[in-house]
Amino acid sequence: MKLTVKSLIGLRDLSRPEIEFILDQSESFKEISYRPIKKVPTLRGKTIINLFIEPSTRTRTSFEIAGKRLSADVINFSPSQSSLSKGETLSDTAKNLEAMKPDLLIVRSPAAGIPELFSRSISTPVINAGDGFHEHPTQGLLDLFTVKERKKKISGLKLAIVGDIRHSRVARSDIYGFSKLGAEVTVVGPPTMIPPGIEQLGCKVSYHLDPVIPESDVIMMLRIQMERGSGNFLPSLREYSRFYGLNLKRMEQAKKDMLIMHPGPVNRGVEISPEVADGNCSVILDQVENGVAVRMALLYLFCGGADEVSA
Ligand code: CP
Repeated sequence: MKLTVKSLIGLRDLSRPEIEFILDQSESFKEISYRPIKKVPTLRGKTIINLFIEPSTRTRTSFEIAGKRLSADVINFSPSQSSLSKGETLSDTAKNLEAMKPDLLIVRSPAAGIPELFSRSISTPVINAGDGFHEHPTQGLLDLFTVKERKKKISGLKLAIVGDIRHSRVARSDIYGFSKLGAEVTVVGPPTMIPPGIEQLGCKVSYHLDPVIPESDVIMMLRIQMERGSGNFLPSLREYSRFYGLNLKRMEQAKKDMLIMHPGPVNRGVEISPEVADGNCSVILDQVENGVAVRMALLYLFCGGADEVSA
């Protein structure tokens, strides 16, 4: 199978078979991280540029590890050490990087639309590593992979995404990904944090967490993003935590095999209590582990590996 997109900008752009294909590919890459020598020659001679204009721990590190495990040359572009700090435009930056003939750009940006702008400006494929409030497609894929690994299916499951939906690119990618694969998605949060019309993306809405917990198979807790102005939409963090925080008391209502997810970084004691974040139902570190396998598959597919793959 060959993907129909040149770049990965969002899960909105992928079909169900394309998403399933990426998940299948990811499975085959996962065991490489368990080998004593965690390196294969698959992308030898390929050059990948990590261009992160916004801080990241999980995404940037796992893309770098993924590239190195596949033997690609991985360049970490640092905006503060680059000519962006002298006023060079993002578009000129993209064209100058393209002139050096990389095979793939990985782009994270605080503003929505930058990875797409890059993809339209240059011939090099681009993977969106999270752009503003828009999408975080590789997070959506690793979330799907983690649920499928644990539950053996996606279709028919009930997923609740809880928190600041308004400012969450993860919520958008998860809504597209999980609903395309047949899950029922409900977004939960205070009315100020749920954008009007979100149902059009393929989800239900609830302003109350407690009634949603007993029926959920998976709960994705989102971070309150103070740096994006979440605080302007809340009376206080304490109030938020009281109504929407996941704690041991609320977990008494949950199915015993419910999965707790969080894209990170976690605000312990705000959206999730430490006991729940570290408890038996939590797959938060599985998500991080699976991020490497999913990103290895994506590097392989978007660096030309797809050409060699048959359905
Ligand atoms: N989940 C996620 O995007 O985390 P980072 O911001 O640390 O990359």
